[in-house]
Amino acid sequence: MKVLNLNYSEYDVIYLGFPIWYRTYPRLVASFVDVADLKDKVVRPFCTNEEGAFGIADFELSAAVKMKGGRLEKGLAVKSFNVASCDEELRNWIG
Ligand SMILES: Cc1cc2nc3c(=O)[nH]c(=O)nc-3n(C[C@H](O)[C@H](O)[C@H](O)COP(=O)(O)O)c2cc1C
Repeated sequence: MKVLNLNYSEYDVIYLGFPIWYRTYPRLVASFVDVADLKDKVVRPFCTNEEGAFGIADFELSAAVKMKGGRLEKGLAVKSFNVASCDEELRNWIG
């Protein structure tokens, strides 16, 4: 399956955003990780959630990304009711 027609060689860092579903990332994100060329890429995850931040998503995603040859960095979890006011937090995290 080809999810996105990306030229991965143009990117060193991939920002991966998703809502938390059932304490982890949605299957769609897992499908992307399955097909993406993540070799030597840094993956920076960010999520929206209602409680519990990343849940087990960062743990599971870290293993999945590692299996593809990449490295997961510490992500940013934003409460869904704070999305409208998280600009500063987002900018600080992006760096
Ligand atoms: C099927 C489903 C499962 C969810 N499971 C969780 C969960 O386990 N933990 C949590 O904090 N939020 C959970 N949520 C809340 C979503 O994370 C939240 O609604 C979402 O991040 C908001 O982003 P959106 O407006 O883009 O959907 C769940 C939402 C749905 C629809």
